[in-house]
Amino acid sequence: MSKAGALDLATGLGGKIDKNDVLSAVDKYEKYHVCYGGEEQERKSNYTDMVNKYYDLVTSFYEYGWGESFHFAPRWKGESLRESIKRNQHFLALQLGLKPGQKVLDVGCGIGGPLREIARFSSTSVTGLNNNEYQIERGRALNCIAGVDQTCDFIKADFMKMPFPDNSFDAVYAIAATCHAPDAVGCYEEIYRVLKPGQCFAVYEWCMTDAFDPSNEEHQKIKAEIELGNGLPDIRLTRQCLEALKQAGFEVIWEKDLAVDSPLPWYLPLDKSHFSLGNFRSTALGSLITKYMVMALEKVGLAPKGSQRVQAFLEKAADGLVAGGKKEIFTAVYFFLARKPNFDDLSYVETTF
Ligand SMILES: C[S@@+](CC[C@H](N)C(=O)[O-])C[C@H]1O[C@@H](n2cnc3c(N)ncnc32)[C@H](O)[C@@H]1O
Repeated sequence: MSKAGALDLATGLGGKIDKNDVLSAVDKYEKYHVCYGGEEQERKSNYTDMVNKYYDLVTSFYEYGWGESFHFAPRWKGESLRESIKRNQHFLALQLGLKPGQKVLDVGCGIGGPLREIARFSSTSVTGLNNNEYQIERGRALNCIAGVDQTCDFIKADFMKMPFPDNSFDAVYAIAATCHAPDAVGCYEEIYRVLKPGQCFAVYEWCMTDAFDPSNEEHQKIKAEIELGNGLPDIRLTRQCLEALKQAGFEVIWEKDLAVDSPLPWYLPLDKSHFSLGNFRSTALGSLITKYMVMALEKVGLAPKGSQRVQAFLEKAADGLVAGGKKEIFTAVYFFLARKPNFDDLSYVETTF
């Protein structure tokens, strides 16, 4: 069971940060960002500190508002948010052609919502790589409850320097995670290295689209809000990710911004102008209730000092994501499937040269 109660939210807030240090961690975290005068280079040089502070501060809010899987999904009319998230995890497993018994790597696995779903859907063993200790602790507990603790595990490490030998995995995927990388080529190169030749890597990436105009102040403000609210050093364009993938050595099988023909927009659950009982906590009224609840919990000392500030930057993030999605300058569901070439495969060599 995901930790979804108000008290769970309060006690989990701050993750591995000492409760007395939460407020100063919020201060330091905010100062990395443009909205508070921060610089891109600072965020990139200190990405481990910035991203870990972010996830220590927000993970219990994520579980409270979103569940065990921390990502968006294209959605059919009549489909609930949870159903759409699971369907997109199954889609990813099918795209990778996962087969029972295969060894799969989930890069930036959160608390393991996608990992558990994909492992059960495909009968594979999934390793979750994550640099955040608090999330791994939650993930291990949830794996035991789901009964996948014998086949799936977690490794605490940075996806820019993975602790695995070359050619270790039959498939690799990343969901809303590699956008945290300070350098896309470096990150994709690590993924390429640990993937077996001839095998595939699939991603849901967060990107600015070609409609993003860097000289437009409003566009820049939206980008800065998304970065602040989501622990991102610098959001790349879809075409920069594609180029980075090729530079890392991958052969791109197909790619598409799945936002383009999704019947319901991926950002709908955050859109305050939309009311949904199924996702009440992210509606305007739901956010207001959460705001006052966090205020009260902080006042009586059940939530650490700084909790309201976390709630406030998450609200800013939600506004930025909705504005970016509506203007189509940002997407949270840019999908690609890529293969690591197998140079020993003669048919590959014949068709390529
Ligand atoms: C938005 S969450 C997505 C989690 C998960 N994929 C899901 O969909 O539920 C991004 C994840 O990437 C992880 N992450 C960010 N930077 C990382 C790094 N350098 N190395 C390993 N994990 C990282 C975060 O700790 C977090 O778990």
